[in-house]
Amino acid sequence: MSVTGTPEETSEPASALKNEPPLAKGLPIIGSAASLFKDPVTFLREQHKLHGQVFKFKAMHKTMTVLAGKEINRFMAGEGRDYFTSEVTWGRLRDGLKSPHLMIAVDGDAHAYQRKLLKGQFSKAAFKERMDRLVDPITTTLTSLDEGQDVHVGPFLRNIVCRQIGLAVQNVEVNTQQTEDFMTTQNTYLNVFMIGKFPRLALYMPKFALSALRTGSLLKKVREDNSNRCPVEGEEPTYMDKIEQGAKERPDLYTENDIRTISMLPFVGGVDPIGGTISFILYRLLQDDALRERVVAEVDNVYAKGALTYESVEQLQDVRGLVMETMRVNPVAYAMARTATKDFEFEGYRIKQGDELMVFTVANHWDETFFPEPETFDIERYREPRNEHKNGAIYAPFGRGPHTCIAAGLAEMHTVINVAVLLRYVDFEAAVSLDKVKVNYIPAPFMSENFKIKLTRRAIST
Ligand code: HEM
Repeated sequence: MSVTGTPEETSEPASALKNEPPLAKGLPIIGSAASLFKDPVTFLREQHKLHGQVFKFKAMHKTMTVLAGKEINRFMAGEGRDYFTSEVTWGRLRDGLKSPHLMIAVDGDAHAYQRKLLKGQFSKAAFKERMDRLVDPITTTLTSLDEGQDVHVGPFLRNIVCRQIGLAVQNVEVNTQQTEDFMTTQNTYLNVFMIGKFPRLALYMPKFALSALRTGSLLKKVREDNSNRCPVEGEEPTYMDKIEQGAKERPDLYTENDIRTISMLPFVGGVDPIGGTISFILYRLLQDDALRERVVAEVDNVYAKGALTYESVEQLQDVRGLVMETMRVNPVAYAMARTATKDFEFEGYRIKQGDELMVFTVANHWDETFFPEPETFDIERYREPRNEHKNGAIYAPFGRGPHTCIAAGLAEMHTVINVAVLLRYVDFEAAVSLDKVKVNYIPAPFMSENFKIKLTRRAIST
């Protein structure tokens, strides 16, 4: 066992513990900030390879300890769940937003209550009756495009996913301007308060101020529309109904700002991670014709039996493998920022209460012990008899522990649907030289904004 709890439970005497974890090499003053901001996944992978499961890095004035590997993933989700808090790092966002009970930034009862209240809203099964709200927005977008139209992948995908989440979760039509407002608002907040990539001055920029204002108005309208609607008898409670229920049952947890931030949560949680994952998939398929032919054939087979349904999506095993393998090699949520609440030992190092931690949850995604030939993109890893992702806590694209993605099953299905509909209705080719396309961290990874594709309707859709 390489993780042990408080000093009383620790198997080795303190004197047997090693010194400070190794420090990643960096520049004076800024430390590793440049490499970290440029490409955090490569930085973490390189340092992990160099130093092993525990190391430190400095980025400007901050020092963080990185913990990596399946033991820490297990510990975080099991007996060690109380050893980590997200209240400090995510708390910066919580304080910036003046939303004292922001779900991702609270632990214990305040978190458990919100999670229980909303769990059913994010379950995959809850979308069985609402599949059309995921399938229709992307189908109509693709079938109404001009022939041979070039699209910028980033805004194109964000618009589609934002519309889908708006309709399926919040019962609201979200337009292009509103999508852009959401993205500007959320990413400015994240970069200022969480990542520290933007100065606070960014909050005074007119573009941000206007976007935040319009986003606030939209969320207010969503709430009003929900309250003013006439519910149909026997109808399931909506997402906003659950929040209103929470506000009544636990007024201590729902200030006006909390209600606003939690109304925005499905968009914040879903748009960039799903859009980013699909941007990696499109990039991959543009470079691998055989893989593309294989997944298109599977999609056509499933469509040959009729329109996509909740059940038929389950038959898309190759597309699911494509999505899962993309989440292994291009994980959009690669590390969890936490603070230690108590002392514990990890790999022979003493982690002290108050240490700022980065749990590199996806560290094992490239470990050949678990994923043979890890550099090979292989969509068959996730099915019988291989099931490589089921080997303990090694596959973690949705995080680990109490805050693990509440919508993991739904998000996977949502991504599979989007890829399937895309492959069914359009052919695509690169409309920019692919070597000019890079990964951007905004802060979640996404293929860069210059990634452009030309879409041609497939004969099948006419
Ligand atoms: C590919 C898609 C997605 C990925 C990779 C992803 C990943 C994650 C991860 C890693 C976390 C944990 C963050 C942490 O512990 O610090 C998380 C939390 C969360 N996600 Fe997702 N997510 C995705 C899609 C979605 C979608 C579609 C929604 C909602 C519609 C959503 C809603 C949430 C919420 C509400 C939380 C906070 C849970 C809590 O604090 O208990 N996510 N997600």
